[in-house]
Amino acid sequence: MSKIVIAIDGFSSTGKSTVARRLAKELGYIYVDTGAMYRAVTYFALQNGLIANDKVDKQELISQLNDIQITFKFNKTVGIAEVYLNGNNIESDIRTLKVSQHVSHIAEISEVRRKLVEQQQLMGKDKGVVMDGRDIATVVFPDAELKIFMTASAETRATRRYKELLQRGHNLSYDDVLKNVVTRDKIDSTREDSPLIKAVDAIEFDNSTMTIDEQLQEIRKLIEQKNE
Ligand code: DC
Repeated sequence: MSKIVIAIDGFSSTGKSTVARRLAKELGYIYVDTGAMYRAVTYFALQNGLIANDKVDKQELISQLNDIQITFKFNKTVGIAEVYLNGNNIESDIRTLKVSQHVSHIAEISEVRRKLVEQQQLMGKDKGVVMDGRDIATVVFPDAELKIFMTASAETRATRRYKELLQRGHNLSYDDVLKNVVTRDKIDSTREDSPLIKAVDAIEFDNSTMTIDEQLQEIRKLIEQKNE
């Protein structure tokens, strides 16, 4: 079976990464979490004082983009590819609510998008990749063989994210998480550059009531159909 590109886009906390990671593992494909890359740039901006009073110093960030090197390294112990910024493992630093609160504004900056999209296209050039994000099927790989668009209600997604953050030891309220989910949806789907939209040829999954196994089963069927 020849290798394909599987693009999974959707709103925040739709469980894209869990499904994408499991799918990549079972197919022997590379999994790329592109949200982690936008989060890494956001973390860099926060660490370097480029975000003050909720405002991003856009020009300064653009001028420092060449100082940002994002890489992934597979951690066998936890079974996931962790994200590194300039050689430092920042996997848990990028999952905080603080990073979530600023990442949508960083992702609006065209120069940031251009840099990350170029890197993503390189990572998928030999196919055999499952990539999740917001613009994978529309901008990064418009020719991807399989495109999935995931949705779920904001409340379902906020509940999932809230539980995940609690498990990671973060202390926060459900209302703050819900507010963040709703705000990010709005910014991500209304921004000028590469907004989150369903590609015309993407298959929509509302996974509010679907388990991960059910979603994987559906995707396996779609892959089989592609190979018929
Ligand atoms: O998937 P995530 O929640 O980790 O993504 C974090 C943010 O990054 C999200 O609010 C929008 C942005 N993003 C994007 O603009 N394009 C992508 N391909 C992936 C993420």
